[in-house]
Amino acid sequence: MFPRLIARQFCIWGGAACALLLSCAALSQTKPGYAGSLSDFRPRKEVPGESFIGPGACASCHAQKSSSHLQTAMGHALQKPTESAVLRSHPRMTFQAGRFSYQIVSDGLQSVYRVTDGKETLSEPILYAFGNAHVAQTYVFRRGGRLYESRVSYYTAIDGLDWTIGDILNPPPSLEEAAGRDIDGDEARNCFSCHATAALVNGKVQLDRIIPGVTCEACHGPGERHAVAKLLETGEDSAIFNPKRLEPETLSQEFCGACHRGVDTVAMMPDLGGLSNVRFQPYRLFNSRGHDPKDAHLVCTACHDPHLDLKQNEAGSDSKCTVCHEPSGAAQTPEKIQNKGAAGKRCSVGRDKCVTCHMPKVELPGAHFKFTDHRIRIVRPKEPYPY
Ligand code: HEC
Ligand code: HEC
Ligand code: HEC
Ligand code: HEC
Ligand code: HEC
Ligand code: HEC
Ligand code: HEC
Repeated sequence: MFPRLIARQFCIWGGAACALLLSCAALSQTKPGYAGSLSDFRPRKEVPGESFIGPGACASCHAQKSSSHLQTAMGHALQKPTESAVLRSHPRMTFQAGRFSYQIVSDGLQSVYRVTDGKETLSEPILYAFGNAHVAQTYVFRRGGRLYESRVSYYTAIDGLDWTIGDILNPPPSLEEAAGRDIDGDEARNCFSCHATAALVNGKVQLDRIIPGVTCEACHGPGERHAVAKLLETGEDSAIFNPKRLEPETLSQEFCGACHRGVDTVAMMPDLGGLSNVRFQPYRLFNSRGHDPKDAHLVCTACHDPHLDLKQNEAGSDSKCTVCHEPSGAAQTPEKIQNKGAAGKRCSVGRDKCVTCHMPKVELPGAHFKFTDHRIRIVRPKEPYPY
């Protein structure tokens, strides 16, 4: 159908554009419009009838967003063991607990997870590394056709292995159980759909066609139709989901919250997730007294551009706060207060570095990491962690 000349020109540019063109042939021109169902798209939700094309294809037109997104932790939330910088730079890692010894050995071709109680040894190749090791990296292996999460994980702060969070077994009952936690079924479905793209088909994990990491189409939906229509300029429906058009509260709670866990999800958890809910930023932010989740200044994307690495963001900059609160001592005319609605109170204590006091870093036991508490508040000494 498509002009061969264009095909040849694109194929000189490289594999991604080639894959894109090849898929043109497969895309039937009579597919029903996607635009109608666009506003319903949410991450982790399947869109029947639409196909994924992979981030390489987006890069040919959205070069800047694509190259910056490659630097993000989200883009590397799931990795093949050969792609894991941790495994590559640590050819042998060990951990000892009671009679059990753990070992992860990598030789550049594969990584093997080995656990022994001195008598018997269990040994399996690692299938996937979960997490870009901003905090930690956990391993998933297959045994007897089922998926298991490794009982030990790599933690960046200690540059070594320790118990996977929530998994301390003291003492572990059997070699099998000491090695891993069975996550086959529902849980694997959840893990892969939060850490990867195109993870599910008809509600089942499909590892043969999964795209590791939270890549473009995890957030923008399957993009083949858009990519092909833009490339060939067919004038056909070229729409793709743009989260920018969501209401702020929907963006934070339902969109980012689909993986980072919004208030509705956390409300269903026993004990509201306990202290672990410091990791559930949408929930924490929602409960910040006085801070309206409908206000665009407090939406996740006001502080985090998901196409940029956390370090490149100015998430902690004072301007995110002073847009509503004047710093201490600054002139605050009644007119300014009126323009900012209910906000405008100023701090009697600090002038700058607002987040260091009002979004405190909280140590999560077992995580070897201090998470930023997104519940913006006055922190009183000895006050217990608010749930
Ligand atoms: C052949 C070029 C091309 C390819 C390939 C392509 N896009 Fe686009 N895309 C465009 C153009 C042109 C626009 C409209 C102008 C703009 O907003 O930059 C656009 C717009 C968008 C928008 C904004 C849509 C809106 O309604 O506001 C998003 C989001 C997007 N693209 C994502 C993607 C993703 C994800 C991929 C890969 C699956 C992709 N694009 C592949 C050319 C392309
Ligand atoms: C499909 C699931 C998914 C969605 C949707 C999602 N995230 Fe994430 N996000 C993750 C995962 C998984 C990680 C952990 C990445 C890692 O370190 O391995 C993460 C990490 C992050 C980080 C930390 C980056 C770092 O360097 O440690 C930020 C900030 C973030 N996400 C912001 C957002 C924002 C803002 C949105 C909404 C616009 C969003 N995320 C939507 C899954 C998601
Ligand atoms: C509901 C979505 C969701 C599910 C399910 C989920 N994760 Fe995550 N995971 C995230 C998000 C979001 C982050 C980043 C924020 C944080 O650290 O909590 C993350 C962070 C991580 C990290 C730390 C990443 C880093 O760079 O430090 C690891 C390791 C991890 N997840 C492993 C797993 C494993 C293994 C499973 C399944 C057994 C799993 N996750 C299930 C969303 C999810
Ligand atoms: C974690 C979720 C997430 C991922 C992953 C992601 N995006 Fe986006 N994207 C967003 C959000 C949220 C917006 C709206 C940002 C805003 O409000 O300005 C957006 C907006 C866009 C836009 C439109 C910009 C505009 O001004 O309207 C384009 C184009 C785009 N993304 C392309 C990409 C490409 C290409 C990739 C992969 C390299 C990608 N995105 C990965 C969440 C994501
Ligand atoms: C007012 C600004 C602000 C808003 C709004 C905001 N964040 Fe953050 N976020 C921060 C700061 C500051 C950090 C710490 C950055 C650092 O350590 O470099 C952070 C860190 C993170 C991290 C990394 C884990 C950690 O604890 O350090 C994740 C993930 C994250 N934010 C997700 C989100 C999500 C999802 C939303 C929307 C519900 C959101 N953030 C809204 C300011 C904000
Ligand atoms: C969209 C505007 C807006 C933004 C942005 C904003 N705030 Fe607020 N903040 C408010 C409003 C409104 C109140 C409630 C004031 C009142 O009690 O009358 C409030 C209350 C507070 C309080 C008092 C809470 C309590 O428990 O009494 C603190 C502390 C605070 N904000 C700090 C911050 C910090 C730090 C930031 C940046 C990370 C920030 N705010 C960003 C509007 C905002
Ligand atoms: C050194 C820690 C610290 C820093 C830095 C800091 N604050 Fe505060 N802030 C406090 C404390 C403590 C209080 C409570 C004061 C009291 O009422 O006893 C407070 C009170 C507030 C209040 C509530 C005022 C009221 O009358 O209810 C707001 C709003 C606020 N801070 C915003 C900010 C902003 C915006 C910044 C950055 C420009 C900032 N704070 C920097 C510690 C700090």
